[in-house]
Amino acid sequence: LENWLQSMPDPARIVSTLDGPAWFERIDDEGPFLRLAFLETAGLTAKAVAAMTAVLDEQGEGTAGQVRPLRRRKDVVAAHFLLRRLLEDSLGRPRSTWTLGATELGRPIVLAPAAMSDVRLSLSHGDGLVAAAIARGCEVGVDVEKVSRHRDRLDISDRFFAADEAAYLRSLSPDTVLDHFTMLWTLKEAFVKAIGKGFWQPFRSFSIALSEPTRISFHDPALGDAAVWQFWQSSYRNFKLALAYAPDREAASDRAAGACE
Ligand SMILES: CC(C)(COP(=O)(O)OP(=O)(O)OC[C@H]1O[C@@H](n2cnc3c(N)ncnc32)[C@H](O)[C@@H]1OP(=O)(O)O)[C@@H](O)C(=O)NCCC(=O)NCCS
Repeated sequence: LENWLQSMPDPARIVSTLDGPAWFERIDDEGPFLRLAFLETAGLTAKAVAAMTAVLDEQGEGTAGQVRPLRRRKDVVAAHFLLRRLLEDSLGRPRSTWTLGATELGRPIVLAPAAMSDVRLSLSHGDGLVAAAIARGCEVGVDVEKVSRHRDRLDISDRFFAADEAAYLRSLSPDTVLDHFTMLWTLKEAFVKAIGKGFWQPFRSFSIALSEPTRISFHDPALGDAAVWQFWQSSYRNFKLALAYAPDREAASDRAAGACE
């Protein structure tokens, strides 16, 4: 995983290969994997977005972009399209064989092909940069956010984050605090997506320390063993990117064993 993340393509380059033959190399292995992709949307032309929308329409996901405010549509469409291309290219099944859906709480899932229902999915649309992650053997959550410029962010962390996180942010100098707030926010959101709960999991029920490596601790016993969780984080232009992953507790198949360890 570390090697792959190091060689992750520049998001701007991915956009420029939109019309190319394939974005993502095929995963030969039938076993565990974790793959992550980003796409910068600022440079996407109306034609490219229309092409992506047509693909989503064809696959019954056409409403993905329509229910959002116009300003966000491009990102929503691009994120769902990116997730589909990542699946199709990586796992080598034709587009028409994939049906995606969502759990009651909103987590994207594979409905068909049935043999791929153990593939975990996550996506994020972040106002100019979108991300998609697929994995077998790992629970996975991804998040991208633009670094906030609002000075009132500390009110949010005081109200919603765990006490140690809020105190940590309060201890920072004004020139670094917004950067750290956004980093912490993306890591927390990546985690609540990886467990499939989204905002239904209170942000103060766990703490993330921006240490090396990033560590999580739980204040809610139902969250299980914190030690199994790993994180990756990065910056791209004025965005923060985060990935949370852990061995898939529900993985029934042998082929999923051994990932994320
Ligand atoms: C998941 C969530 C944390 C993401 O927030 P966000 O920063 O606005 O959006 P992002 O672009 O980063 O991610 C959105 C994607 O997360 C995914 N997602 C939504 N709910 C999810 C869940 N429970 N678990 C995992 N992933 C989820 C979806 O793919 C969604 O995109 P889509 O709606 O286009 O399919 C948040 O939207 C959420 O929890 N929503 C559902 C529950 C809710 O609204 N609760 C409010 C009560 S406080």
